[in-house]
Amino acid sequence: MATPDLFASPGPSPAERVAELRTELHQHAHRYYVLDEPSIPDAEYDRLFQELQALEAAHPELASPDSPTRRVGGKALDQFTSVRHAVPMLSIRTETDTEATGAQNFDTRVRKELGLVESDPPVEYVAELKFDGLAMNLRYENGVLVQAATRGDGEVGEDVTQNIRTIRQIPLRLPKDVPPVLEVRGEVYMRRDDFESLNEKQREKIAQGAKNEKTFVNPRNAAAGAVRQLDPGIAAQRPLSFFAYGVGEVTPQQEGGPQFDTHFQLLLTLKSWGFPVAALTQTAQGAPELIAFHQKIARERDQLPYDIDGVVYKVNSLALQKKLGFVTREPRWAVAHKYPAQEQMTTVLAIDVQVGRTGKLTPVAKLAPVFVGGVTVTNATLHNEDEARRKDVRVGDTVIVRRAGDVIPEVVSVMADKRVQDAPQFTMPRTCPVCGSDAVREEGEADYRCTGGLFCGAQRKEAILHYAHRRAVEVEGLGDKLVEQMVDANIIRTLPDLYKLGLTALAGLERMADKSAQNLLQALEKSKSTTLPRFLFGLGIRHVGEATAKELARHFGKLDAIMDAPEAQLLEVNDVGPIVATSIRTFFDQPHNREVVEQLRACGVHWAEGEPAARAPQPLSGKTLVITGTLPTLSRDEAKDRVEAAGGKVAGSVSKKTDYVVAGAEAGSKLTRAQELGITVIDEAGLLAMLEAPPG
Ligand code: IVH
Repeated sequence: MATPDLFASPGPSPAERVAELRTELHQHAHRYYVLDEPSIPDAEYDRLFQELQALEAAHPELASPDSPTRRVGGKALDQFTSVRHAVPMLSIRTETDTEATGAQNFDTRVRKELGLVESDPPVEYVAELKFDGLAMNLRYENGVLVQAATRGDGEVGEDVTQNIRTIRQIPLRLPKDVPPVLEVRGEVYMRRDDFESLNEKQREKIAQGAKNEKTFVNPRNAAAGAVRQLDPGIAAQRPLSFFAYGVGEVTPQQEGGPQFDTHFQLLLTLKSWGFPVAALTQTAQGAPELIAFHQKIARERDQLPYDIDGVVYKVNSLALQKKLGFVTREPRWAVAHKYPAQEQMTTVLAIDVQVGRTGKLTPVAKLAPVFVGGVTVTNATLHNEDEARRKDVRVGDTVIVRRAGDVIPEVVSVMADKRVQDAPQFTMPRTCPVCGSDAVREEGEADYRCTGGLFCGAQRKEAILHYAHRRAVEVEGLGDKLVEQMVDANIIRTLPDLYKLGLTALAGLERMADKSAQNLLQALEKSKSTTLPRFLFGLGIRHVGEATAKELARHFGKLDAIMDAPEAQLLEVNDVGPIVATSIRTFFDQPHNREVVEQLRACGVHWAEGEPAARAPQPLSGKTLVITGTLPTLSRDEAKDRVEAAGGKVAGSVSKKTDYVVAGAEAGSKLTRAQELGITVIDEAGLLAMLEAPPG
């Protein structure tokens, strides 16, 4: 028989548990954000994080500036306080000669300063990337991050600690063996993908009517805005990253502490302490290897996940650095070697509107050719109507264009003072420039869309693929490669052409053996016999998914009834709201779409039509239920599905509008709330009985 273990140690004290959690979370965060090798699932990380938050809330005396919970941002500030740098933050001389001679010149100067002659061995350098962000000084005392400051004028910067704490790549606490005072310097930047998704979010906010939001010009700008954000809660939502490239004040090394003679050793040590150091950093012997580095990075620049505006060369030996010293505020031992800029000026020749595969209309500025970010650019996206308006780009304008990485070139701003007089403002066309169907912009959306889905040349491939999809009309074997080929070869233009295909046309296609051509023709023949929901879904009407297609078919019974139904009638269908109703109406209002439907029918596509469904009586029509606790046999999802199938709604919280609360085992606050409000509480058996019962 098991006896209680009287000697079991008590659980950890709150202080012990807090310490445990912090260590564990620090380790996971390092693996996740710096090493890119997550060790636990996100949900588990969140659980530990919440446990720590709860403990800290219950025990304010355990608060600590290096707690991972401090990363979510604290109170908003009125202004930043100034910080005098213990060691000035210098800048680097820039070699503007973007050719190989830039590196050669630097090496020649260094050798001269050091008094080296031709027969002396090459100088060893460290070659780094020149990140396009903001310089930051991170001050650690006894291994804890106590202050983060911007460069400012090099002598005095601003205290932005709250915001910098939100950067997950920056350790809040360092291992035991670090010097008691350690200042790490590096660059805070924003990755290109993070920048794109931030701007995408901003555009959505603007489309939804947010007044004080704007998009950012480039990642550097977005990073600077985030760092100088007075509300750290907002800063926490701006995804920043960090690379270390040097140190500021460091207290003298203790016995046995890490020693370094070279800059490269220093970087390796910073890395071992948990700081991100760019993997492309390397040592280089003399000018030839600097030149090779400059050329290698030039080739890789586009594929990097972040912007760089050049590379940096530094003399590796710290003793030689000391010997070389400074001129004014620039060290003689370092130089920045630039690349061609990723932003350039040019003029707008025209503004075209392009139609994407899914019918999205995108305004595009046609530009006087300009060499930017390593390629000649003639087009730049204006994203959508609001963006084009906000930037107010007009034909004839002088604009700044940006192209970085594989990102589509973009107009970032207009030089307002160079505008030609009377240039008209840009407006989005109300019809599709490809097919002439109506172009509409739905409420709360940023984009205009062409509504001629079945007919529009730009949407051909997408429309055919959707129609042929397994869950739509299903044409077995008709995949994207084949559709691509057939449309490009002009064998099919619209859907009905599918049913006019013959063996000869198919045999001419790549990788199309006789056998597969025959199979495809058979599959097409088979697809002619379908169902109304499949056919409706297959038309690719915006917002009409499988479920809505089924509801429409059940409600109306016949396709013609749906095609002719006014919006008011469409709104009577289950799950059809105003946006869906308008979308269906607009779709069938396009004569071309109707023609395609008629032609498909003429080709022999058919289905059984029925009578409009008298709405089956619904036992829970108009009732709102809340489910709480664990039910004996039904899962939460099953219960919800059953309630909804019976016409009821399931809400997440109990209010006066709740009709019933279904309570299972361990029901908590929702049950209490129901009792307070006097709402009828039933159990699972009660629910099942109601589902069976006739309505009323
Ligand atoms: S070292 C004494 N290394 O460039 C040298 N700076 O004008 C101090 N930067 O403000 C800087 N990447 O923001 C260094 N790998 C790198 C860098 C880098 C970017 C920036 C930094 C600094 C400016 C120098």
